[in-house]
Amino acid sequence: MKNRFCEHFGLTSPVVQAPIGSASCPELVAAVSNAGGLGVLSGTWRTPSELRSLIRKTQALTTRPFGVNLVLAWDMTERVAICLEENAKLLSFFWGDPGPHIPVVHSVGGKVFHTVGSADEARKAADVGVDVIVAQGWEAGGHVWGKVTTLALVPRVVDAIPELPVLAAGGIADGRGIAAALALGAEAAWMGTRFLLTREARVHARYQQCLQEATEADTLYTERFSGGWPDAPHRVLERLRDWEQAEEIIAHYSDGEAIGRLSSNLPAPGVTGNIEAMCLYAGQSVGLSREILPAAQLVAQLSEETHTAVCNLWRRQGTIS
Ligand SMILES: Cc1cc2nc3c(=O)[nH]c(=O)nc-3n(C[C@H](O)[C@H](O)[C@H](O)COP(=O)(O)O)c2cc1C
Repeated sequence: MKNRFCEHFGLTSPVVQAPIGSASCPELVAAVSNAGGLGVLSGTWRTPSELRSLIRKTQALTTRPFGVNLVLAWDMTERVAICLEENAKLLSFFWGDPGPHIPVVHSVGGKVFHTVGSADEARKAADVGVDVIVAQGWEAGGHVWGKVTTLALVPRVVDAIPELPVLAAGGIADGRGIAAALALGAEAAWMGTRFLLTREARVHARYQQCLQEATEADTLYTERFSGGWPDAPHRVLERLRDWEQAEEIIAHYSDGEAIGRLSSNLPAPGVTGNIEAMCLYAGQSVGLSREILPAAQLVAQLSEETHTAVCNLWRRQGTIS
């Protein structure tokens, strides 16, 4: 793939595995980067020392670039410093002002990605020195920053900041979606929900099963799972119609810690209890997310599908009888 973004980071496939909370683990991130995409680790819900060891573990599994994502709803200064000390210089920010962190990242030759939900916000991020803009549409899974859908948002952001690469996030789960994002002017797709269905993703098997059974009509944009992160809209599977009736404690971690019904934590492997009542983040792209694949195979498949989708645009598409 020839564009500024892929060439700069040495990608052979215009695919970024978006940060998907605690599901993005070193095995997933490294597998994606080794396959020619870009993997992104999530650093927010890890203690500083856990983050350091996760970065080291990822570096032991790949020599290719990978990102670390930090959510700026909380103070991330210490974690930014840890990333840079560990030579993880590709930082992705979400939900806050990236400005204060940019000088220190740039001072060591690092790059800053920032997720936005509007063209105005993209312009402001470019003006404070962000290097790569992620335009996240409303159909995205997980926490959703803006209110505009991907198809309307991406070309507006591309036009607002022609000097920077734009990545398209939200609603993309196969090569047709990636080709569409490229046609809108994006230089790669930033995909979360699809990567939950990989062998490496650190999620509970029942959660994966729920994702496989869901259609594009089964997600809910809500502030329901506010425990641990209030006032932050997110998109989840609407699995329980009688959610209000769910008990206060719905599940337990393997160490016995209780999980309340408002918890914003996703079901990790080892959790026991009412998994379906937990926060099952998913975007509308869930209807296209079916098979659980090794991440490297998924990246190869997405690459191949993108190529086919682009070629098909130039072929005769049949006739109307
Ligand atoms: C399970 C899950 C967890 C997420 N956690 C984060 C996160 O920690 N940081 C972040 O910037 N975005 C997070 N997101 C949002 C994704 O990075 C991305 O914007 C979104 O998944 C794109 O839409 P898609 O799910 O349709 O691919 C999360 C998304 C999901 C599905």
